[in-house]
Amino acid sequence: MTGITHPKIVVTGRIPDAGLELLRSIEGSDVWAWMDDAVIPTDLRDEQLADADAAVTLLTDRVDDDFLAAAPQLRVVANVAVGYNNIDVAACTARDVLVTNTPGVLTDATADLAMGLILMSTRRLGEGERLIRSDTAWQWGMFMMLGTGLQGRTLGIVGMGAIGEALATRARAFGMKIVYHNRRNVGVEIERRLDARRVDFDELLATSDIVSLNCPYSEATHHLIDAAALAAMKSTAFLVNTARGPIVDEAALVDALIDDAIAGAALDVFENEPTVHPGLLGLDNVVLVPHLGSATVETRAAMATTAAANVAEVVAGRTPHNPVSG
Ligand code: GLV
Repeated sequence: MTGITHPKIVVTGRIPDAGLELLRSIEGSDVWAWMDDAVIPTDLRDEQLADADAAVTLLTDRVDDDFLAAAPQLRVVANVAVGYNNIDVAACTARDVLVTNTPGVLTDATADLAMGLILMSTRRLGEGERLIRSDTAWQWGMFMMLGTGLQGRTLGIVGMGAIGEALATRARAFGMKIVYHNRRNVGVEIERRLDARRVDFDELLATSDIVSLNCPYSEATHHLIDAAALAAMKSTAFLVNTARGPIVDEAALVDALIDDAIAGAALDVFENEPTVHPGLLGLDNVVLVPHLGSATVETRAAMATTAAANVAEVVAGRTPHNPVSG
Protein backbone atom coordinates (compact mmCIF):
# COMPACT_ATOMS: atom_id res chain seq x y z
CA MET A 1 0.00 0.00 0.00
CA THR A 2 1.46 3.39 -0.92
CA GLY A 3 1.35 6.28 1.52
CA ILE A 4 -0.16 9.74 0.93
CA THR A 5 2.18 12.74 0.97
CA HIS A 6 -0.19 15.69 1.55
CA PRO A 7 -3.42 14.10 2.70
CA LYS A 8 -6.59 16.12 2.71
CA ILE A 9 -8.66 14.79 5.61
CA VAL A 10 -12.33 15.70 5.90
CA VAL A 11 -14.02 15.29 9.28
CA THR A 12 -17.75 15.34 8.61
CA GLY A 13 -18.91 16.07 12.18
CA ARG A 14 -17.72 17.53 15.45
CA ILE A 15 -15.33 15.14 17.22
CA PRO A 16 -13.31 15.55 20.44
CA ASP A 17 -10.16 17.70 20.17
CA ALA A 18 -7.87 14.73 20.86
CA GLY A 19 -8.93 13.21 17.54
CA LEU A 20 -8.51 16.46 15.62
CA GLU A 21 -5.08 17.03 17.17
CA LEU A 22 -3.93 13.59 16.10
CA LEU A 23 -5.17 14.19 12.56
CA ARG A 24 -3.44 17.58 12.43
CA SER A 25 -0.20 16.02 13.65
CA ILE A 26 -0.07 13.75 10.60
CA GLU A 27 2.79 15.08 8.51
CA GLY A 28 1.67 17.27 5.63
CA SER A 29 -2.01 16.89 6.48
CA ASP A 30 -4.68 19.42 5.59
CA VAL A 31 -7.58 18.80 7.95
CA TRP A 32 -11.01 20.26 7.24
CA ALA A 33 -13.54 19.65 10.00
CA TRP A 34 -17.23 20.48 10.28
CA MET A 35 -17.38 21.95 13.78
CA ASP A 36 -21.11 21.89 14.34
CA ASP A 37 -23.26 19.31 16.15
CA ALA A 38 -25.88 19.51 13.39
CA VAL A 39 -25.45 17.13 10.45
CA ILE A 40 -23.24 18.67 7.75
CA PRO A 41 -25.14 20.06 4.71
CA THR A 42 -24.62 17.71 1.76
CA ASP A 43 -23.41 20.37 -0.69
CA LEU A 44 -20.72 21.56 1.70
CA ARG A 45 -19.72 17.98 2.48
CA ASP A 46 -19.43 17.14 -1.23
CA GLU A 47 -17.44 20.30 -1.92
CA GLN A 48 -14.91 19.29 0.75
CA LEU A 49 -14.86 15.65 -0.33
CA ALA A 50 -13.89 16.59 -3.91
CA ASP A 51 -10.16 16.46 -3.13
CA ALA A 52 -10.28 14.37 0.07
CA ASP A 53 -7.97 11.40 0.65
CA ALA A 54 -9.55 10.44 3.97
CA ALA A 55 -12.95 10.96 5.58
CA VAL A 56 -13.66 10.69 9.29
CA THR A 57 -17.37 9.97 9.56
CA LEU A 58 -20.07 9.68 12.20
CA LEU A 59 -23.14 7.47 12.52
CA THR A 60 -25.26 10.29 11.12
CA ASP A 61 -23.38 10.13 7.79
CA ARG A 62 -24.65 7.82 5.09
CA VAL A 63 -21.58 6.68 3.18
CA ASP A 64 -23.14 5.41 -0.02
CA ASP A 65 -22.60 5.74 -3.76
CA ASP A 66 -23.47 9.47 -3.68
CA PHE A 67 -20.93 10.11 -0.93
CA LEU A 68 -18.25 8.12 -2.74
CA ALA A 69 -19.00 9.71 -6.11
CA ALA A 70 -18.28 13.09 -4.52
CA ALA A 71 -14.88 11.84 -3.31
CA PRO A 72 -13.01 10.42 -6.33
CA GLN A 73 -9.62 10.21 -4.63
CA LEU A 74 -10.80 8.85 -1.27
CA ARG A 75 -8.65 6.08 0.23
CA VAL A 76 -10.22 5.55 3.66
CA VAL A 77 -13.44 6.13 5.57
CA ALA A 78 -12.75 6.06 9.32
CA ASN A 79 -16.09 5.71 11.10
CA VAL A 80 -16.11 7.03 14.66
CA ALA A 81 -18.23 4.13 15.93
CA VAL A 82 -18.00 0.40 16.34
CA GLY A 83 -21.16 -0.17 14.27
CA TYR A 84 -20.84 0.68 10.59
CA ASN A 85 -24.28 -0.01 9.17
CA ASN A 86 -24.26 3.65 8.01
CA ILE A 87 -21.58 2.66 5.50
CA ASP A 88 -22.07 0.71 2.28
CA VAL A 89 -18.91 -1.35 2.74
CA ALA A 90 -19.37 -3.17 -0.60
CA ALA A 91 -19.56 0.16 -2.46
CA CYS A 92 -16.40 1.32 -0.67
CA THR A 93 -14.56 -1.91 -1.47
CA ALA A 94 -15.60 -1.68 -5.12
CA ARG A 95 -13.83 1.70 -5.24
CA ASP A 96 -10.79 0.52 -3.26
CA VAL A 97 -11.77 2.67 -0.29
CA LEU A 98 -10.85 1.13 3.06
CA VAL A 99 -13.34 1.29 5.93
CA THR A 100 -12.36 1.30 9.60
CA ASN A 101 -14.30 1.39 12.88
CA THR A 102 -13.50 1.88 16.58
CA PRO A 103 -13.96 -1.43 18.40
CA GLY A 104 -12.80 -2.01 21.97
CA VAL A 105 -12.78 1.53 23.27
CA LEU A 106 -16.54 1.69 23.79
CA THR A 107 -17.07 -1.80 25.13
CA ASP A 108 -17.26 -0.84 28.82
CA ALA A 109 -19.33 2.29 28.30
CA THR A 110 -21.92 0.40 26.26
CA ALA A 111 -22.04 -2.54 28.67
CA ASP A 112 -22.45 -0.09 31.56
CA LEU A 113 -25.38 1.51 29.77
CA ALA A 114 -27.00 -1.87 29.06
CA MET A 115 -26.69 -2.78 32.75
CA GLY A 116 -28.15 0.60 33.65
CA LEU A 117 -31.11 0.01 31.35
CA ILE A 118 -31.67 -3.44 32.82
CA LEU A 119 -31.84 -1.86 36.27
CA MET A 120 -34.00 1.03 35.07
CA SER A 121 -36.58 -1.24 33.52
CA THR A 122 -36.71 -3.99 36.14
CA ARG A 123 -36.76 -1.50 39.03
CA ARG A 124 -39.10 0.96 37.28
CA LEU A 125 -36.74 3.88 37.78
CA GLY A 126 -38.02 5.98 34.88
CA GLU A 127 -41.55 5.55 36.14
CA GLY A 128 -40.49 6.56 39.64
CA GLU A 129 -38.72 9.63 38.33
CA ARG A 130 -41.75 10.65 36.31
CA LEU A 131 -43.95 10.26 39.38
CA ILE A 132 -41.80 12.60 41.47
CA ARG A 133 -41.40 15.15 38.70
CA SER A 134 -45.15 15.18 38.05
CA ASP A 135 -45.58 16.57 41.54
CA THR A 136 -48.06 13.82 42.37
CA ALA A 137 -48.54 13.16 46.10
CA TRP A 138 -46.89 9.90 47.14
CA GLN A 139 -45.83 8.03 50.22
CA TRP A 140 -43.62 5.01 50.86
CA GLY A 141 -45.77 1.91 50.62
CA MET A 142 -45.17 -1.80 51.02
CA PHE A 143 -46.61 -2.46 47.59
CA MET A 144 -45.59 0.72 45.87
CA MET A 145 -43.97 0.39 42.43
CA LEU A 146 -42.63 -3.09 43.00
CA GLY A 147 -40.08 -4.23 40.48
CA THR A 148 -38.24 -7.44 39.69
CA GLY A 149 -34.99 -8.57 41.32
CA LEU A 150 -32.12 -9.75 39.14
CA GLN A 151 -30.59 -12.40 41.40
CA GLY A 152 -31.00 -15.88 39.97
CA ARG A 153 -32.65 -14.52 36.80
CA THR A 154 -31.46 -15.42 33.34
CA LEU A 155 -29.93 -12.86 31.02
CA GLY A 156 -30.10 -13.89 27.36
CA ILE A 157 -27.48 -12.11 25.29
CA VAL A 158 -28.06 -11.97 21.55
CA GLY A 159 -24.61 -11.37 20.04
CA MET A 160 -21.78 -12.40 22.33
CA GLY A 161 -19.04 -10.09 21.06
CA ALA A 162 -16.93 -7.86 23.29
CA ILE A 163 -19.92 -5.81 24.49
CA GLY A 164 -22.05 -8.90 25.17
CA GLU A 165 -19.21 -10.41 27.15
CA ALA A 166 -18.67 -7.21 29.16
CA LEU A 167 -22.38 -7.09 29.92
CA ALA A 168 -22.34 -10.74 31.02
CA THR A 169 -19.44 -9.97 33.40
CA ARG A 170 -21.49 -7.20 34.99
CA ALA A 171 -24.64 -9.32 35.16
CA ARG A 172 -22.73 -12.12 36.90
CA ALA A 173 -21.85 -9.64 39.65
CA PHE A 174 -25.61 -9.11 40.08
CA GLY A 175 -26.11 -12.86 40.51
CA MET A 176 -27.61 -13.47 37.07
CA LYS A 177 -27.32 -16.62 34.96
CA ILE A 178 -26.13 -16.18 31.39
CA VAL A 179 -27.26 -17.79 28.15
CA TYR A 180 -26.23 -16.46 24.78
CA HIS A 181 -26.99 -16.80 21.11
CA ASN A 182 -24.14 -16.25 18.70
CA ARG A 183 -23.00 -17.40 15.29
CA ARG A 184 -19.97 -19.04 16.86
CA ASN A 185 -19.10 -20.44 20.24
CA VAL A 186 -17.10 -17.97 22.33
CA GLY A 187 -14.83 -20.67 23.69
CA VAL A 188 -14.64 -22.67 26.90
CA GLU A 189 -12.55 -20.15 28.79
CA ILE A 190 -15.14 -17.37 28.46
CA GLU A 191 -18.04 -19.78 28.96
CA ARG A 192 -16.45 -21.09 32.14
CA ARG A 193 -15.64 -17.65 33.52
CA LEU A 194 -19.18 -16.43 32.90
CA ASP A 195 -20.83 -19.79 33.51
CA ALA A 196 -22.50 -19.05 30.18
CA ARG A 197 -24.27 -21.49 27.89
CA ARG A 198 -24.78 -21.10 24.14
CA VAL A 199 -28.38 -21.79 23.16
CA ASP A 200 -30.41 -21.43 19.98
CA PHE A 201 -32.48 -18.31 19.49
CA ASP A 202 -35.79 -19.98 20.36
CA GLU A 203 -34.46 -21.33 23.65
CA LEU A 204 -32.99 -17.95 24.51
CA LEU A 205 -36.35 -16.24 23.94
CA ALA A 206 -38.26 -18.87 25.89
CA THR A 207 -35.98 -18.99 28.94
CA SER A 208 -34.58 -15.47 29.42
CA ASP A 209 -35.89 -13.02 31.99
CA ILE A 210 -33.98 -10.25 30.21
CA VAL A 211 -33.20 -10.40 26.49
CA SER A 212 -30.34 -8.03 25.63
CA LEU A 213 -29.50 -7.22 22.01
CA ASN A 214 -25.76 -6.83 21.47
CA CYS A 215 -25.38 -7.96 17.86
CA PRO A 216 -24.51 -5.85 14.80
CA TYR A 217 -27.30 -4.71 12.50
CA SER A 218 -27.40 -6.36 9.07
CA GLU A 219 -30.00 -7.78 6.72
CA ALA A 220 -29.80 -10.96 8.79
CA THR A 221 -30.71 -9.16 12.03
CA HIS A 222 -33.35 -6.80 10.57
CA HIS A 223 -36.48 -7.23 12.74
CA LEU A 224 -34.91 -10.20 14.48
CA ILE A 225 -37.22 -9.21 17.31
CA ASP A 226 -40.59 -9.24 15.57
CA ALA A 227 -44.10 -10.10 16.75
CA ALA A 228 -43.30 -13.83 16.79
CA ALA A 229 -40.11 -13.35 18.79
CA LEU A 230 -41.90 -11.12 21.28
CA ALA A 231 -44.67 -13.70 21.63
CA ALA A 232 -42.02 -16.34 22.32
CA MET A 233 -40.61 -14.36 25.27
CA LYS A 234 -41.87 -14.87 28.81
CA SER A 235 -44.68 -12.48 29.73
CA THR A 236 -42.51 -11.47 32.71
CA ALA A 237 -39.43 -10.76 30.57
CA PHE A 238 -37.80 -7.48 29.56
CA LEU A 239 -36.16 -6.53 26.24
CA VAL A 240 -33.08 -4.28 26.24
CA ASN A 241 -31.66 -2.84 23.01
CA THR A 242 -28.31 -1.02 23.00
CA ALA A 243 -27.34 -2.34 19.54
CA ARG A 244 -29.29 -0.91 16.59
CA GLY A 245 -32.92 0.15 16.35
CA PRO A 246 -34.03 -1.80 13.26
CA ILE A 247 -33.16 -5.11 14.95
CA VAL A 248 -36.53 -4.60 16.66
CA ASP A 249 -39.85 -4.22 14.87
CA GLU A 250 -40.91 -1.18 16.89
CA ALA A 251 -44.60 -1.40 15.96
CA ALA A 252 -44.69 -5.02 17.15
CA LEU A 253 -42.92 -3.98 20.35
CA VAL A 254 -45.54 -1.30 21.02
CA ASP A 255 -48.28 -3.92 20.66
CA ALA A 256 -46.44 -6.36 22.94
CA LEU A 257 -45.98 -3.68 25.61
CA ILE A 258 -49.62 -2.58 25.42
CA ASP A 259 -50.85 -6.18 25.60
CA ASP A 260 -48.45 -7.02 28.46
CA ALA A 261 -47.07 -9.80 26.26
CA ILE A 262 -43.73 -8.87 27.85
CA ALA A 263 -43.15 -6.99 31.11
CA GLY A 264 -41.13 -4.12 29.71
CA ALA A 265 -38.38 -2.83 27.48
CA ALA A 266 -35.50 -0.39 27.54
CA LEU A 267 -34.26 1.17 24.32
CA ASP A 268 -31.14 3.21 23.60
CA VAL A 269 -31.60 2.93 19.83
CA PHE A 270 -34.60 3.31 17.55
CA GLU A 271 -35.81 1.93 14.28
CA ASN A 272 -36.03 5.33 12.56
CA GLU A 273 -33.61 7.30 14.67
CA PRO A 274 -33.97 10.04 15.81
CA THR A 275 -37.72 9.53 15.39
CA VAL A 276 -39.24 7.41 18.14
CA HIS A 277 -42.41 5.41 17.48
CA PRO A 278 -45.18 7.59 18.98
CA GLY A 279 -46.76 4.48 20.49
CA LEU A 280 -43.78 4.11 22.82
CA LEU A 281 -43.93 7.61 24.23
CA GLY A 282 -47.01 7.17 26.40
CA LEU A 283 -46.12 3.75 27.81
CA ASP A 284 -44.84 3.41 31.36
CA ASN A 285 -43.28 -0.01 30.85
CA VAL A 286 -40.59 1.21 28.47
CA VAL A 287 -37.42 3.17 29.20
CA LEU A 288 -36.27 5.43 26.36
CA VAL A 289 -32.83 7.05 26.14
CA PRO A 290 -31.28 8.85 23.13
CA HIS A 291 -28.49 6.56 21.82
CA LEU A 292 -26.11 7.14 24.72
CA GLY A 293 -24.23 3.80 24.62
CA SER A 294 -20.77 5.27 24.11
CA ALA A 295 -21.58 8.72 25.47
CA THR A 296 -18.90 9.32 28.07
CA VAL A 297 -16.22 11.99 27.76
CA GLU A 298 -13.45 9.39 27.99
CA THR A 299 -15.00 6.99 25.51
CA ARG A 300 -15.80 9.60 22.88
CA ALA A 301 -12.21 10.91 23.07
CA ALA A 302 -10.88 7.37 22.68
CA MET A 303 -13.19 6.76 19.71
CA ALA A 304 -11.95 9.92 18.01
CA THR A 305 -8.27 9.08 18.53
CA THR A 306 -8.85 5.49 17.39
CA ALA A 307 -10.43 6.72 14.15
CA ALA A 308 -7.62 9.26 13.68
CA ALA A 309 -4.99 6.56 14.26
CA ASN A 310 -6.63 4.45 11.56
CA VAL A 311 -6.35 7.39 9.14
CA ALA A 312 -2.69 7.90 10.14
CA GLU A 313 -1.91 4.27 9.29
CA VAL A 314 -3.46 4.53 5.84
CA VAL A 315 -1.66 7.82 5.20
CA ALA A 316 1.62 6.12 6.17
CA GLY A 317 0.90 3.33 3.68
CA ARG A 318 0.19 0.73 6.36
CA THR A 319 -2.82 -1.46 7.07
CA PRO A 320 -5.11 0.35 9.55
CA HIS A 321 -5.60 -1.11 13.02
CA ASN A 322 -9.35 -1.63 12.67
CA PRO A 323 -10.25 -2.56 9.11
CA VAL A 324 -13.84 -3.58 8.52
CA SER A 325 -14.54 -6.43 6.15
CA GLY A 326 -17.47 -6.19 3.80
C1 GLV B 1 -22.51 3.42 18.53
O1 GLV B 1 -23.66 3.14 18.42
C2 GLV B 1 -21.44 2.74 17.86
O2 GLV B 1 -21.68 1.85 17.04
O3 GLV B 1 -20.29 3.11 18.11
